[in-house]
Amino acid sequence: MGKAVDLAIVLAAGEGTRMKSSLAKVLHPIAGKTVIHHVIDALTPVSSQLCVVVGAHREAVESHISEIAPSAKKTFQAERNGTGHAVQLALADTNAKGCVLVVAGDTPLLRTSTLTEFIEAHLELKSAASVLTAVLPDPFGYGRIVRDELGAIISIVEERDADEDQKQIDEINTGVYLFDISALRDASKKLTSNNSQGELYLTDVISLIKSSNQVAVAIQSNDFTETLGINDRAQLAQCAAIMRDRLNDEYMRNGVSIIDPMTTWIDAGVVIASDVTIYPGSAIHGTTSIAAGAVIGPRTTLVNVSVAAGASIIESRVTDAEVGPGAAVGPFTFIRPGTRLAANSKVGAFVEMKSATLGEGSKVPHLSYVGDATIGEGTNIGAATIFVNYDGVEKHHTVVGSHVRVGSDTMLVAPVTIGDGAYTAAGSVITEDVPAGAIGVARGKQRNVLGWVLRRRSATKSAEAARDAGATELGARD
Ligand code: UD1
Ligand code: MG
Repeated sequence: MGKAVDLAIVLAAGEGTRMKSSLAKVLHPIAGKTVIHHVIDALTPVSSQLCVVVGAHREAVESHISEIAPSAKKTFQAERNGTGHAVQLALADTNAKGCVLVVAGDTPLLRTSTLTEFIEAHLELKSAASVLTAVLPDPFGYGRIVRDELGAIISIVEERDADEDQKQIDEINTGVYLFDISALRDASKKLTSNNSQGELYLTDVISLIKSSNQVAVAIQSNDFTETLGINDRAQLAQCAAIMRDRLNDEYMRNGVSIIDPMTTWIDAGVVIASDVTIYPGSAIHGTTSIAAGAVIGPRTTLVNVSVAAGASIIESRVTDAEVGPGAAVGPFTFIRPGTRLAANSKVGAFVEMKSATLGEGSKVPHLSYVGDATIGEGTNIGAATIFVNYDGVEKHHTVVGSHVRVGSDTMLVAPVTIGDGAYTAAGSVITEDVPAGAIGVARGKQRNVLGWVLRRRSATKSAEAARDAGATELGARD
Protein backbone atom coordinates (compact mmCIF):
# COMPACT_ATOMS: atom_id res chain seq x y z
CA MET A 1 0.00 0.00 0.00
CA GLY A 2 1.26 3.46 -0.87
CA LYS A 3 2.28 5.67 2.02
CA ALA A 4 1.04 9.24 2.49
CA VAL A 5 4.37 10.79 1.62
CA ASP A 6 6.38 9.81 -1.48
CA LEU A 7 9.75 11.03 -0.26
CA ALA A 8 11.17 12.15 3.07
CA ILE A 9 14.32 14.30 3.11
CA VAL A 10 16.30 14.34 6.34
CA LEU A 11 18.80 17.19 6.65
CA ALA A 12 21.88 16.00 8.50
CA ALA A 13 24.86 17.67 6.85
CA GLY A 14 25.46 20.34 9.46
CA GLU A 15 28.66 20.58 11.48
CA GLY A 16 26.96 20.45 14.86
CA THR A 17 29.64 22.89 16.04
CA ARG A 18 27.90 23.70 19.32
CA MET A 19 28.08 20.04 20.43
CA LYS A 20 31.91 20.41 20.68
CA SER A 21 32.21 16.72 19.88
CA SER A 22 34.30 14.41 17.70
CA LEU A 23 31.07 12.46 17.17
CA ALA A 24 28.53 13.76 14.64
CA LYS A 25 25.61 15.50 16.34
CA VAL A 26 23.01 13.14 14.86
CA LEU A 27 24.99 10.10 16.08
CA HIS A 28 24.77 10.99 19.77
CA PRO A 29 22.62 8.47 21.65
CA ILE A 30 19.32 9.04 23.41
CA ALA A 31 17.57 6.10 25.08
CA GLY A 32 19.85 3.61 23.35
CA LYS A 33 19.39 4.91 19.79
CA THR A 34 21.09 7.68 17.87
CA VAL A 35 19.30 11.00 17.45
CA ILE A 36 18.83 10.38 13.72
CA HIS A 37 17.59 6.82 14.31
CA HIS A 38 14.69 8.25 16.34
CA VAL A 39 13.90 10.66 13.49
CA ILE A 40 13.99 7.91 10.86
CA ASP A 41 11.85 5.60 13.01
CA ALA A 42 9.22 8.35 13.30
CA LEU A 43 8.96 9.02 9.58
CA THR A 44 9.39 5.51 8.14
CA PRO A 45 5.70 4.57 8.67
CA VAL A 46 4.51 7.57 6.63
CA SER A 47 7.06 7.75 3.82
CA SER A 48 7.82 5.43 0.88
CA GLN A 49 11.34 6.68 0.16
CA LEU A 50 14.00 8.25 2.30
CA CYS A 51 16.87 10.56 1.40
CA VAL A 52 19.41 11.73 3.99
CA VAL A 53 21.60 14.73 3.20
CA VAL A 54 25.03 14.13 4.73
CA GLY A 55 28.11 16.34 4.92
CA ALA A 56 30.08 16.78 8.14
CA HIS A 57 31.30 13.44 9.55
CA ARG A 58 30.20 11.93 6.26
CA GLU A 59 31.66 8.40 6.62
CA ALA A 60 30.32 7.83 10.12
CA VAL A 61 26.85 9.16 9.32
CA GLU A 62 26.63 7.24 6.03
CA SER A 63 27.64 3.93 7.53
CA HIS A 64 25.15 4.38 10.36
CA ILE A 65 22.36 5.16 7.86
CA SER A 66 23.28 2.04 5.86
CA GLU A 67 22.85 0.03 9.05
CA ILE A 68 19.52 1.43 10.25
CA ALA A 69 17.89 2.25 6.89
CA PRO A 70 19.62 0.23 4.15
CA SER A 71 17.33 1.45 1.36
CA ALA A 72 17.80 5.15 2.13
CA LYS A 73 19.50 7.32 -0.45
CA LYS A 74 22.44 9.39 0.77
CA THR A 75 23.02 12.78 -0.85
CA PHE A 76 26.36 14.41 -0.20
CA GLN A 77 26.45 18.14 0.48
CA ALA A 78 30.12 19.03 0.20
CA GLU A 79 29.72 22.68 1.09
CA ARG A 80 27.12 23.65 3.68
CA ASN A 81 25.36 26.50 1.95
CA GLY A 82 22.24 26.26 4.02
CA THR A 83 19.05 24.23 4.38
CA GLY A 84 17.76 25.45 1.01
CA HIS A 85 20.96 24.26 -0.69
CA ALA A 86 20.72 20.87 1.05
CA VAL A 87 17.18 20.40 -0.28
CA GLN A 88 18.22 21.48 -3.80
CA LEU A 89 20.83 18.70 -3.83
CA ALA A 90 18.35 16.10 -2.52
CA LEU A 91 15.84 17.07 -5.24
CA ALA A 92 18.53 16.83 -7.94
CA ASP A 93 19.13 13.26 -6.76
CA THR A 94 15.55 12.01 -7.16
CA ASN A 95 12.78 11.76 -9.71
CA ALA A 96 10.14 11.23 -7.02
CA LYS A 97 6.76 12.86 -7.64
CA GLY A 98 3.96 13.84 -5.30
CA CYS A 99 4.40 14.83 -1.70
CA VAL A 100 7.72 15.38 0.08
CA LEU A 101 8.36 15.66 3.81
CA VAL A 102 11.43 17.61 4.95
CA VAL A 103 12.73 17.27 8.51
CA ALA A 104 15.95 18.07 10.34
CA GLY A 105 17.99 15.12 11.57
CA ASP A 106 18.32 16.64 15.04
CA THR A 107 14.71 16.49 16.32
CA PRO A 108 14.49 13.05 17.97
CA LEU A 109 11.24 13.64 19.86
CA LEU A 110 9.06 13.98 16.78
CA ARG A 111 6.27 11.37 16.78
CA THR A 112 4.68 9.50 13.88
CA SER A 113 1.22 10.52 15.14
CA THR A 114 2.13 14.21 14.85
CA LEU A 115 3.44 13.68 11.32
CA THR A 116 0.22 11.86 10.40
CA GLU A 117 -1.92 14.76 11.66
CA PHE A 118 0.32 17.24 9.85
CA ILE A 119 -0.01 15.26 6.58
CA GLU A 120 -3.81 15.08 6.95
CA ALA A 121 -4.07 18.87 7.41
CA HIS A 122 -1.72 19.48 4.47
CA LEU A 123 -3.84 17.29 2.17
CA GLU A 124 -7.14 18.65 3.41
CA LEU A 125 -6.03 22.26 2.82
CA LYS A 126 -4.73 21.30 -0.66
CA SER A 127 -1.53 23.04 0.32
CA ALA A 128 1.56 23.22 -1.87
CA ALA A 129 3.78 24.12 1.08
CA SER A 130 3.05 23.52 4.76
CA VAL A 131 5.26 24.25 7.72
CA LEU A 132 4.75 22.73 11.15
CA THR A 133 4.97 25.39 13.83
CA ALA A 134 4.96 25.50 17.61
CA VAL A 135 4.52 28.14 20.27
CA LEU A 136 7.58 28.17 22.51
CA PRO A 137 7.99 29.70 25.96
CA ASP A 138 11.43 30.88 24.78
CA PRO A 139 11.51 31.24 20.98
CA PHE A 140 15.06 32.64 20.89
CA GLY A 141 17.19 31.23 18.08
CA TYR A 142 14.38 29.77 15.99
CA GLY A 143 12.89 31.07 12.76
CA ARG A 144 9.68 33.06 13.50
CA ILE A 145 6.36 32.63 11.70
CA VAL A 146 5.14 35.96 10.33
CA ARG A 147 1.37 35.98 9.70
CA ASP A 148 -0.91 38.62 8.16
CA GLU A 149 -3.90 40.16 9.93
CA LEU A 150 -6.09 37.26 8.78
CA GLY A 151 -3.64 34.77 10.25
CA ALA A 152 -2.22 33.48 6.95
CA ILE A 153 1.53 32.88 6.86
CA ILE A 154 3.54 35.50 5.00
CA SER A 155 7.09 34.33 5.59
CA ILE A 156 9.57 32.79 8.02
CA VAL A 157 12.22 35.11 9.45
CA GLU A 158 15.38 33.79 11.09
CA GLU A 159 16.41 35.15 14.49
CA ARG A 160 19.44 36.89 12.98
CA ASP A 161 17.37 38.55 10.28
CA ALA A 162 14.40 39.50 12.46
CA ASP A 163 13.54 43.05 13.52
CA GLU A 164 12.52 43.89 17.09
CA ASP A 165 8.81 43.30 16.44
CA GLN A 166 9.44 39.97 14.75
CA LYS A 167 11.62 38.83 17.66
CA GLN A 168 8.53 39.16 19.89
CA ILE A 169 6.72 36.45 17.88
CA ASP A 170 6.58 33.23 19.90
CA GLU A 171 5.38 30.96 17.10
CA ILE A 172 8.40 29.24 15.57
CA ASN A 173 9.35 27.11 12.59
CA THR A 174 9.92 23.52 13.80
CA GLY A 175 11.89 22.68 10.66
CA VAL A 176 9.28 20.11 9.56
CA TYR A 177 7.68 20.80 6.17
CA LEU A 178 5.47 19.17 3.55
CA PHE A 179 5.62 20.21 -0.08
CA ASP A 180 4.25 19.35 -3.44
CA ILE A 181 7.53 18.26 -5.03
CA SER A 182 7.11 20.23 -8.25
CA ALA A 183 6.22 23.42 -6.35
CA LEU A 184 9.31 22.88 -4.17
CA ARG A 185 11.50 22.27 -7.22
CA ASP A 186 10.35 25.52 -8.85
CA ALA A 187 10.65 27.61 -5.70
CA SER A 188 14.04 26.19 -4.65
CA LYS A 189 15.54 27.35 -7.96
CA LYS A 190 14.64 30.91 -7.03
CA LEU A 191 16.37 30.94 -3.62
CA THR A 192 18.98 33.61 -2.99
CA SER A 193 21.54 34.04 -0.23
CA ASN A 194 20.43 37.55 0.51
CA ASN A 195 20.44 37.18 4.32
CA SER A 196 22.70 37.67 7.31
CA GLN A 197 24.30 34.20 6.98
CA GLY A 198 24.78 34.38 3.20
CA GLU A 199 23.10 30.95 2.91
CA LEU A 200 20.20 29.54 0.93
CA TYR A 201 17.37 29.29 3.44
CA LEU A 202 14.76 26.58 2.87
CA THR A 203 12.39 28.77 4.87
CA ASP A 204 12.27 31.28 1.98
CA VAL A 205 10.43 28.82 -0.28
CA ILE A 206 7.25 29.50 1.71
CA SER A 207 6.95 33.11 0.53
CA LEU A 208 8.18 32.15 -2.97
CA ILE A 209 5.43 29.54 -3.30
CA LYS A 210 2.86 32.05 -2.04
CA SER A 211 3.97 34.64 -4.57
CA SER A 212 3.43 32.11 -7.36
CA ASN A 213 -0.21 31.96 -6.21
CA GLN A 214 -0.07 28.53 -4.65
CA VAL A 215 -1.35 27.65 -1.20
CA ALA A 216 1.16 27.82 1.66
CA VAL A 217 0.05 27.24 5.25
CA ALA A 218 1.50 27.16 8.74
CA ILE A 219 0.06 24.39 10.93
CA GLN A 220 0.55 24.61 14.67
CA SER A 221 1.42 21.49 16.65
CA ASN A 222 0.09 21.31 20.18
CA ASP A 223 3.15 19.76 21.85
CA PHE A 224 6.20 21.95 21.46
CA THR A 225 8.46 19.42 23.20
CA GLU A 226 8.22 17.14 20.16
CA THR A 227 9.94 19.62 17.92
CA LEU A 228 12.86 20.56 20.14
CA GLY A 229 16.08 20.44 18.16
CA ILE A 230 19.44 19.44 19.57
CA ASN A 231 22.21 21.95 19.05
CA ASP A 232 24.29 21.53 22.22
CA ARG A 233 24.80 19.12 25.14
CA ALA A 234 22.30 20.90 27.35
CA GLN A 235 19.58 20.35 24.75
CA LEU A 236 20.76 16.74 24.35
CA ALA A 237 20.20 16.18 28.08
CA GLN A 238 16.86 18.00 27.96
CA CYS A 239 15.62 15.82 25.08
CA ALA A 240 16.93 12.67 26.78
CA ALA A 241 14.95 13.53 29.93
CA ILE A 242 11.77 14.09 27.92
CA MET A 243 12.33 10.79 26.10
CA ARG A 244 12.93 9.03 29.44
CA ASP A 245 9.64 10.35 30.84
CA ARG A 246 7.81 9.36 27.69
CA LEU A 247 9.16 5.78 27.76
CA ASN A 248 8.60 5.40 31.51
CA ASP A 249 4.98 6.58 31.14
CA GLU A 250 4.44 3.94 28.49
CA TYR A 251 5.97 1.16 30.62
CA MET A 252 3.92 2.23 33.64
CA ARG A 253 0.72 2.27 31.60
CA ASN A 254 1.59 -1.30 30.58
CA GLY A 255 1.69 -2.40 34.22
CA VAL A 256 5.33 -1.90 35.22
CA SER A 257 5.90 -0.34 38.66
CA ILE A 258 8.61 2.31 38.40
CA ILE A 259 9.18 3.62 41.91
CA ASP A 260 11.14 6.74 40.87
CA PRO A 261 10.72 7.56 37.16
CA MET A 262 13.12 10.52 37.42
CA THR A 263 16.09 8.22 38.15
CA THR A 264 15.07 5.26 36.00
CA TRP A 265 16.53 5.21 32.48
CA ILE A 266 15.15 2.60 30.12
CA ASP A 267 16.14 2.32 26.46
CA ALA A 268 13.55 2.32 23.71
CA GLY A 269 13.12 -1.31 22.67
CA VAL A 270 13.54 -2.88 26.11
CA VAL A 271 10.69 -5.34 26.73
CA ILE A 272 9.18 -5.38 30.24
CA ALA A 273 6.20 -7.50 31.29
CA SER A 274 3.52 -6.37 33.71
CA ASP A 275 4.07 -6.63 37.46
CA VAL A 276 7.77 -6.01 37.18
CA THR A 277 9.02 -3.59 39.84
CA ILE A 278 11.94 -1.26 39.18
CA TYR A 279 13.52 0.55 42.13
CA PRO A 280 15.30 3.93 41.93
CA GLY A 281 18.60 4.58 40.21
CA SER A 282 18.33 1.78 37.67
CA ALA A 283 19.32 1.80 33.99
CA ILE A 284 18.07 -0.82 31.55
CA HIS A 285 19.72 -0.96 28.16
CA GLY A 286 19.90 -2.64 24.78
CA THR A 287 18.01 -5.84 24.06
CA THR A 288 17.08 -6.49 27.69
CA SER A 289 13.79 -8.28 28.34
CA ILE A 290 12.23 -8.71 31.78
CA ALA A 291 9.47 -11.22 32.51
CA ALA A 292 6.53 -10.86 34.88
CA GLY A 293 7.06 -10.38 38.58
CA ALA A 294 10.80 -9.71 38.40
CA VAL A 295 12.29 -7.12 40.75
CA ILE A 296 15.09 -4.85 39.53
CA GLY A 297 17.12 -2.37 41.57
CA PRO A 298 17.70 -0.11 43.34
CA ARG A 299 20.84 1.11 41.54
CA THR A 300 21.03 -1.72 39.04
CA THR A 301 22.31 -1.61 35.46
CA LEU A 302 21.24 -4.24 32.93
CA VAL A 303 22.71 -4.38 29.43
CA ASN A 304 21.30 -6.97 26.99
CA VAL A 305 20.01 -9.23 29.74
CA SER A 306 17.21 -11.76 29.60
CA VAL A 307 15.51 -11.78 33.01
CA ALA A 308 12.98 -14.58 33.58
CA ALA A 309 9.81 -14.42 35.66
CA GLY A 310 10.17 -13.80 39.37
CA ALA A 311 13.91 -13.19 39.30
CA SER A 312 15.43 -10.41 41.41
CA ILE A 313 18.51 -8.31 40.70
CA ILE A 314 19.44 -5.89 43.46
CA GLU A 315 22.19 -3.20 43.42
CA SER A 316 24.11 -4.97 40.66
CA ARG A 317 25.53 -4.69 37.16
CA VAL A 318 24.67 -7.40 34.62
CA THR A 319 25.77 -7.49 30.96
CA ASP A 320 24.98 -9.94 28.13
CA ALA A 321 23.63 -12.62 30.44
CA GLU A 322 20.58 -14.77 31.21
CA VAL A 323 18.95 -14.75 34.62
CA GLY A 324 16.59 -17.73 35.04
CA PRO A 325 13.16 -17.90 36.70
CA GLY A 326 13.24 -17.09 40.39
CA ALA A 327 17.02 -16.55 40.37
CA ALA A 328 18.41 -14.01 42.86
CA VAL A 329 21.31 -11.69 42.10
CA GLY A 330 22.89 -9.16 44.45
CA PRO A 331 23.36 -6.96 46.26
CA PHE A 332 26.70 -5.77 44.81
CA THR A 333 27.14 -8.43 42.16
CA PHE A 334 28.96 -8.09 38.83
CA ILE A 335 27.71 -10.44 36.12
CA ARG A 336 29.70 -10.26 32.89
CA PRO A 337 29.03 -11.55 29.37
CA GLY A 338 28.25 -15.19 28.75
CA THR A 339 26.81 -15.95 32.18
CA ARG A 340 23.70 -18.12 32.48
CA LEU A 341 21.94 -18.51 35.78
CA ALA A 342 19.40 -21.35 35.85
CA ALA A 343 16.10 -21.36 37.72
CA ASN A 344 16.20 -20.52 41.43
CA SER A 345 19.95 -20.14 41.50
CA LYS A 346 21.55 -17.45 43.66
CA VAL A 347 24.56 -15.19 43.22
CA GLY A 348 25.21 -13.03 46.25
CA ALA A 349 27.23 -10.12 47.51
CA PHE A 350 30.63 -9.27 46.02
CA VAL A 351 30.56 -12.07 43.49
CA GLU A 352 31.86 -11.63 39.93
CA MET A 353 30.91 -14.11 37.20
CA LYS A 354 31.98 -14.35 33.55
CA SER A 355 31.30 -17.01 30.88
CA ALA A 356 29.83 -19.29 33.49
CA THR A 357 26.74 -21.46 33.81
CA LEU A 358 25.18 -21.94 37.22
CA GLY A 359 22.75 -24.90 37.43
CA GLU A 360 19.27 -24.99 38.91
CA GLY A 361 19.15 -24.14 42.60
CA SER A 362 22.93 -23.73 42.86
CA LYS A 363 24.44 -20.92 44.91
CA VAL A 364 27.49 -18.68 44.94
CA PRO A 365 26.48 -16.66 47.97
CA HIS A 366 29.53 -14.55 48.93
CA LEU A 367 32.79 -12.95 47.79
CA SER A 368 33.73 -15.19 44.86
CA TYR A 369 35.08 -15.03 41.33
CA VAL A 370 33.56 -17.55 38.93
CA GLY A 371 35.08 -17.33 35.46
CA ASP A 372 34.89 -19.87 32.59
CA ALA A 373 32.93 -22.50 34.50
CA THR A 374 30.09 -24.95 34.28
CA ILE A 375 28.38 -25.69 37.60
CA GLY A 376 25.66 -28.38 37.97
CA GLU A 377 22.47 -28.39 40.04
CA GLY A 378 22.04 -28.01 43.78
CA THR A 379 25.70 -27.12 44.29
CA ASN A 380 27.02 -24.67 46.88
CA ILE A 381 30.17 -22.67 46.27
CA GLY A 382 31.59 -21.62 49.67
CA ALA A 383 32.44 -18.00 50.46
CA ALA A 384 35.56 -16.54 48.86
CA THR A 385 36.03 -19.37 46.39
CA ILE A 386 38.05 -18.36 43.34
CA PHE A 387 37.91 -20.06 39.98
CA VAL A 388 41.55 -19.63 38.93
CA ASN A 389 40.92 -19.50 35.19
CA TYR A 390 43.97 -17.61 33.93
CA ASP A 391 47.50 -19.03 33.84
CA GLY A 392 48.95 -15.73 32.75
CA VAL A 393 48.65 -16.60 29.07
CA GLU A 394 45.42 -18.52 28.49
CA LYS A 395 42.01 -19.00 30.08
CA HIS A 396 40.93 -22.49 31.18
CA HIS A 397 37.59 -24.04 32.03
CA THR A 398 36.40 -25.55 35.32
CA VAL A 399 33.61 -28.10 35.66
CA VAL A 400 31.81 -28.51 38.99
CA GLY A 401 29.16 -31.27 39.14
CA SER A 402 25.78 -31.39 40.85
CA HIS A 403 25.22 -31.34 44.64
CA VAL A 404 28.86 -30.43 45.20
CA ARG A 405 29.99 -28.58 48.36
CA VAL A 406 33.00 -26.41 47.63
CA GLY A 407 34.52 -25.34 50.97
CA SER A 408 35.11 -21.68 51.71
CA ASP A 409 38.24 -20.08 50.30
CA THR A 410 38.90 -22.86 47.81
CA MET A 411 41.10 -22.11 44.79
CA LEU A 412 39.93 -24.19 41.81
CA VAL A 413 42.94 -24.05 39.50
CA ALA A 414 41.64 -24.63 35.97
CA PRO A 415 41.44 -26.82 34.04
CA VAL A 416 39.96 -28.98 36.78
CA THR A 417 36.80 -31.06 37.37
CA ILE A 418 34.94 -31.64 40.62
CA GLY A 419 32.71 -34.73 40.33
CA ASP A 420 29.05 -34.99 41.36
CA GLY A 421 28.44 -34.99 45.07
CA ALA A 422 32.11 -34.23 45.88
CA TYR A 423 33.38 -31.85 48.60
CA THR A 424 36.49 -29.71 48.89
CA ALA A 425 37.99 -28.80 52.24
CA ALA A 426 37.97 -25.10 53.16
CA GLY A 427 41.14 -23.29 52.16
CA SER A 428 42.21 -25.91 49.60
CA VAL A 429 44.16 -25.12 46.45
CA ILE A 430 42.64 -27.72 44.11
CA THR A 431 44.90 -28.46 41.15
CA GLU A 432 43.77 -32.00 40.41
CA ASP A 433 40.34 -33.44 39.63
CA VAL A 434 38.22 -34.52 42.61
CA PRO A 435 36.24 -37.70 41.80
CA ALA A 436 32.50 -37.99 42.50
CA GLY A 437 31.77 -38.48 46.17
CA ALA A 438 35.36 -37.69 47.32
CA ILE A 439 36.59 -34.78 49.42
CA GLY A 440 39.57 -32.92 48.03
CA VAL A 441 41.91 -31.67 50.78
CA ALA A 442 44.86 -29.60 49.61
CA ARG A 443 46.30 -27.54 52.44
CA GLY A 444 49.01 -27.73 55.14
CA LYS A 445 48.22 -29.68 58.31
CA GLN A 446 47.66 -27.42 61.31
CA ARG A 447 50.31 -27.21 64.10
CA ASN A 448 49.72 -25.30 67.41
CA VAL A 449 52.82 -23.91 69.16
CA LEU A 450 51.69 -23.76 72.78
CA GLY A 451 52.69 -20.74 74.90
CA TRP A 452 54.22 -18.86 71.95
CA VAL A 453 52.36 -15.59 72.61
CA LEU A 454 53.30 -15.60 76.30
CA ARG A 455 56.98 -16.07 75.42
CA ARG A 456 57.27 -13.84 72.32
CA ARG A 457 54.64 -11.17 72.96
CA SER A 458 54.68 -11.13 76.73
CA ALA A 459 53.78 -7.42 77.23
CA THR A 460 50.68 -7.45 75.04
CA LYS A 461 46.97 -7.57 75.79
CA SER A 462 46.90 -10.86 73.92
CA ALA A 463 49.39 -12.36 76.38
CA GLU A 464 47.38 -10.98 79.30
CA ALA A 465 44.14 -12.47 77.95
CA ALA A 466 45.87 -15.81 77.39
CA ARG A 467 47.23 -15.81 80.94
CA ASP A 468 43.75 -15.02 82.31
CA ALA A 469 42.46 -17.99 80.32
CA GLY A 470 45.00 -20.22 82.12
CA ALA A 471 47.70 -20.49 79.41
CA THR A 472 51.33 -20.87 80.52
CA GLU A 473 54.70 -20.17 78.93
CA LEU A 474 55.40 -23.85 78.71
CA GLY A 475 54.96 -25.38 75.31
CA ALA A 476 56.61 -26.99 72.37
CA ARG A 477 60.04 -25.62 71.42
CA ASP A 478 59.85 -22.90 68.79
C1 UD1 B 1 16.49 25.97 11.05
C2 UD1 B 1 15.49 26.90 10.35
C3 UD1 B 1 14.72 27.66 11.42
C4 UD1 B 1 14.02 26.68 12.35
C5 UD1 B 1 15.02 25.67 12.92
C6 UD1 B 1 14.28 24.57 13.64
C7 UD1 B 1 16.48 27.58 8.24
C8 UD1 B 1 17.14 28.68 7.49
N1 UD1 B 1 16.19 27.84 9.51
O1 UD1 B 1 17.40 26.77 11.77
O2 UD1 B 1 13.74 28.49 10.82
O3 UD1 B 1 13.38 27.37 13.38
O4 UD1 B 1 15.80 25.05 11.88
O5 UD1 B 1 15.15 23.71 14.32
O6 UD1 B 1 16.22 26.52 7.67
N2 UD1 B 1 21.72 21.43 7.39
C9 UD1 B 1 22.21 20.83 6.24
N3 UD1 B 1 22.94 21.57 5.37
C10 UD1 B 1 23.18 22.89 5.57
C11 UD1 B 1 22.67 23.51 6.73
C12 UD1 B 1 21.93 22.73 7.62
O7 UD1 B 1 22.01 19.63 6.03
O8 UD1 B 1 23.84 23.49 4.71
C13 UD1 B 1 20.95 20.61 8.33
C14 UD1 B 1 21.55 20.56 9.72
O9 UD1 B 1 22.40 19.44 9.84
C15 UD1 B 1 20.32 20.42 10.60
C16 UD1 B 1 19.22 21.12 9.81
O10 UD1 B 1 19.68 21.20 8.49
O11 UD1 B 1 19.96 19.07 10.82
C17 UD1 B 1 18.91 22.50 10.35
O12 UD1 B 1 20.08 23.27 10.30
P1 UD1 B 1 20.51 24.20 11.52
O13 UD1 B 1 21.80 24.84 11.17
O14 UD1 B 1 20.38 23.48 12.79
O15 UD1 B 1 19.37 25.32 11.36
P2 UD1 B 1 18.77 26.22 12.50
O16 UD1 B 1 19.65 27.38 12.70
O17 UD1 B 1 18.45 25.38 13.67
MG1 MG C 1 18.97 23.35 14.40
